[in-house]
Amino acid sequence: MNILILGAGGREHSLAWAIKQNPRTDRLIVAPGNAGIAQLAECADLDILDGAAVVTFCEENAIDFVVIGPEAPLAAGVADATRAAGLLTFGPSAAAARLETSKAFTKDICDACGAPTAAWARFTEAAPARDYVTAKGAPIVVKADGLAAGKGVVVAMTLAEALAAVDDMFAGSFGQAGAEVVIEEFMSGEEASFFILTDGTTCLPLGTAQDHKRAFDGDSGPNTGGMGAYSPAPVLTEAIADEVMARIVRPTVAEMARRGTPYQGVLYAGLMIADGRARLLEYNARFGDPECQVLMMRLGAQALDLLLACAEGRLDDARVAWAPDHALTVVLAARGYPGAFAKGSQIRGLDALPEDSRHMVFHAGTAGRDGQIIATGGRVLNVTARGATLAEARARAYALVERIDWPGGYCRRDIGWRGL
Ligand code: AMP
Ligand code: GLY
Repeated sequence: MNILILGAGGREHSLAWAIKQNPRTDRLIVAPGNAGIAQLAECADLDILDGAAVVTFCEENAIDFVVIGPEAPLAAGVADATRAAGLLTFGPSAAAARLETSKAFTKDICDACGAPTAAWARFTEAAPARDYVTAKGAPIVVKADGLAAGKGVVVAMTLAEALAAVDDMFAGSFGQAGAEVVIEEFMSGEEASFFILTDGTTCLPLGTAQDHKRAFDGDSGPNTGGMGAYSPAPVLTEAIADEVMARIVRPTVAEMARRGTPYQGVLYAGLMIADGRARLLEYNARFGDPECQVLMMRLGAQALDLLLACAEGRLDDARVAWAPDHALTVVLAARGYPGAFAKGSQIRGLDALPEDSRHMVFHAGTAGRDGQIIATGGRVLNVTARGATLAEARARAYALVERIDWPGGYCRRDIGWRGL
């Protein structure tokens, strides 16, 4: 079959890598893609936020299956457009993607179905929000309701910080995303990510991972989109995962269906785990990046069969064949990221690296120029390895990192520390 993946990051490179290995794949196109993706698939120049343009492209290229990687096209209704045109699609409708695009919406769903999460309140004006924060005290969490490129959450350890965050959001620092603000109880514990495929009715756990959101070693420095990840997450034991399915995931999926907006795609549950119990931090309507890279490294070719079963509503007879393995990915980022960074520096040494079932360098922000690979983004490469143990996967990943010659980049040296 002919498959189109929308996106340009390491997540989409890993999806393409896994899907390419499946014998059902004939033609594989990624739009817009990047220099690493171009080594295994066709890359197409296409406005992936324009549903009509995506539909036309699919018709012109006889596409049988569309896989939507990032949240922006989901929020823009691209899955609605492709489904309305009769195209088999992996990814939720814009209405179902509200689970990612509105924090207050997710909190309402949790309340409606009894899913455990932090106590919360919503505000559309600064004065009552300030009063609430002052009454509750710090630590407390202030969130812009809408999509804010991962920056709309302030975990305030002092009252002054919380009040400043409230003022900042209502002053418009996140634009429309901050027109409504959610204020939450601070939860302590250990975070983990749980990925579930759902066709709107049946829910199939796909795997667990942990990422590292802070820029520097020891979980210090500013927040980023993720500096590394590993799978599985040991903190998400089978017992906790079962409870999350029973108390959070299945009730959410049932509530979405009851409201006439069934959720179809991957549901990414961000969890806070303490004393053997999990509460929901947030949902995302897509795979995590870089968590997807470690999941795909472990799933390989079967990923396509699972995504197809999800899109076709056949999850009730789908199974995930897990190997007792571990995968770990280290993000190489441009120096300065997540602040200002330079673009255009050359990366050397990639050609000499092994690319096999245990080693893969996924590209997140690269382009080809005169036969060379140059950095074009903040997060640039995802150096990924698989092993029988987490320690083995980590040793393999860092051995690859050592062989990459990129003076313009940096990485954390402690990815996986919590799992080890
Ligand atoms: P979110 O985008 O909602 O996942 O928030 C981003 C990050 O902020 C999470 O990964 C947590 O590290 C932190 N966070 C969000 N909500 C809370 C909370 N209620 N208590 C503690 N930390 C939180
Ligand atoms: N790595 C976190 C995310 O994809 O949202």
